[in-house]
Amino acid sequence: MCGIIGILGKQDAVPHLVDGLRRLEYRGYDSAGIAVLNDHAIERRRAKGKLDNLAAEVDQHPISGQVGIGHTRWATHGVPSENNAHPHMTDKVAIVHNGIIENYLDLREELSEKTNGSVEFTSDTDTEVVAHMVGYYLDQGMSPKDAVTEVLPRLEGAFGFVMIFHGHEDLMVGARQGSPLAIGYGEGEMFFGSDALALAPLTRRICYLKEGDWAVITPEGADIMDMQGNPVEREIVQTAVSGATIGKGNYRHFMLKEIYEQPTVIGDTLTTVLNPASQTITMPPLPVNAKNITKVTATACGTAYYACMVAKYWVEQLARIPMETDIGSELRYRGTPLPEDGLALFVSQSGETMDTLESLRYARQEKQNILSVVNVPESTVARESDAVLLTQAGPEIGVASTKAFTTQLTILACMAIGLAKERGTLDAKREAELASALAEVPGRAAEVLNHDEHIAEIAKTISEARDIFYMGRGTAYPIALEGALKLKEISYIHAEGYAAGEMKHGPLALIEDDVPIIMIAPSDDLFDKTASNVQEMVARGGRVIFISDKKGIAKMRRMAEPAACIEMPDVDPFVAPILYSIPIQLLAYHVAVLKGTDVDQPRNLAKSVTVE
Ligand code: G6P
Repeated sequence: MCGIIGILGKQDAVPHLVDGLRRLEYRGYDSAGIAVLNDHAIERRRAKGKLDNLAAEVDQHPISGQVGIGHTRWATHGVPSENNAHPHMTDKVAIVHNGIIENYLDLREELSEKTNGSVEFTSDTDTEVVAHMVGYYLDQGMSPKDAVTEVLPRLEGAFGFVMIFHGHEDLMVGARQGSPLAIGYGEGEMFFGSDALALAPLTRRICYLKEGDWAVITPEGADIMDMQGNPVEREIVQTAVSGATIGKGNYRHFMLKEIYEQPTVIGDTLTTVLNPASQTITMPPLPVNAKNITKVTATACGTAYYACMVAKYWVEQLARIPMETDIGSELRYRGTPLPEDGLALFVSQSGETMDTLESLRYARQEKQNILSVVNVPESTVARESDAVLLTQAGPEIGVASTKAFTTQLTILACMAIGLAKERGTLDAKREAELASALAEVPGRAAEVLNHDEHIAEIAKTISEARDIFYMGRGTAYPIALEGALKLKEISYIHAEGYAAGEMKHGPLALIEDDVPIIMIAPSDDLFDKTASNVQEMVARGGRVIFISDKKGIAKMRRMAEPAACIEMPDVDPFVAPILYSIPIQLLAYHVAVLKGTDVDQPRNLAKSVTVE
């Protein structure tokens, strides 16, 4: 969602605001803006579209000031336009906001009544009313802190916001309820940021505000309060997030770079739990004794949800624990009863996805033991969990998740082994086999990347298709769903993932000449059944792209000839979903490049979804 930065500095803040927004652009990218304080007024520059447009606007019409705020927007209320871009302001206050003020229409009406209609709204956003409400109290002679104290309790919904005030060069106010916000501590300078990534070049000393916190920062430090205005103490931590410039290197897109990083980051993730010498997996302590777990309930959104679906097969087969998976936006409202001694698992790259976080809070109410898999150790999901398993993917900038997904799968595979060991459902011999299969994944992943050019050729044959199907059985089924999602996200081609066995119950009606079907078929116990489904597709004219190992491809060809084959390394089927994710990422990538879409920042999407 939207990215926020605030700088209360000692030198011109403008270049740092623009740089900070660049680091946040992956969060939202339909418009951007900055505002700074100077002697006479609050000055603002905004632009529709990518950050480069704002940078060009600032070059053409420079502004400067030591105190400023910036924002990258992902539209919720009001179309992406310059008028709707943040900051929103009056002559006395400017605000940047992430989240949704749900009662903004009521507040607008109320303010219009109070001011006899004299307030003029210039945007369609939910945010602007907050600026005018604070402005109203400032006009009555209130201090910035008192004005915010009046307004805060009136706001319903989710927000992380930062405000600056004309005539107050020594303070800035930020608040957090539902959307993340952190304070950065510098030397005589202070900062706000919606994540540590934005602040990393400015300071490593970070304080993450908790839900319902708000803060007044001055050059000397921060006063943090709860919504009732009581002072609260929050820890300052040293963030591990690097301030190094995040670049694409020699790659054309972040997504391609991140696909190519997978051998390394899967290896880094394994290193945290796998001992290759003893061929054992040692997991950190869980919040509950594995022997007592009655059920695992896994919740996530988007790609992370498909990681949970794969884990369901692993946990049920290896550890023999019933496991349910749900998407965050459903679990949180479903009122599902969760059993005593249940383990609630939350998987999230960012650790900030609102529906995942709210589901976690629901599970907390239901007295679950809470374990999360996150890529950002300081994230809210991590901080609210009883135990955390970290993926070592490093910052993922491409909106379509790639390395975050395969590292989630990697750590979840290890988790399933850990649970099975503790429950006595996995003997040492099988543990050693699985550990050695996992230890081989980074090397095998590098081999898969060698097929890049071949996959780019296959992409040419499907890039003009209107609909594309992805199919698989067992753990290949969630990979089919992920393949379809990847293609939709970045190429805008309609794609659907199906359990291969379900085709005959409806979707087969859609198969006709040249409809592409991506069949994910490792040589496992279900291979023959999947191969029969391929024959059914080929018989109806379907153009099957068959992803399997050497043995599987040879066997398939004896039954029917797929339009194309991608030959995968021969591996234990247990680790196949991790490896088979890579060709489907590359396929989606090359189709998107052929279509000329914005691969890293696809239309309408955002990397971190902190609204409902
Ligand atoms: C967005 C992203 C997806 C991601 C999902 C969940 O939709 O575009 O790539 O899978 O959010 O994000 P999370 O950070 O919770 O893994």
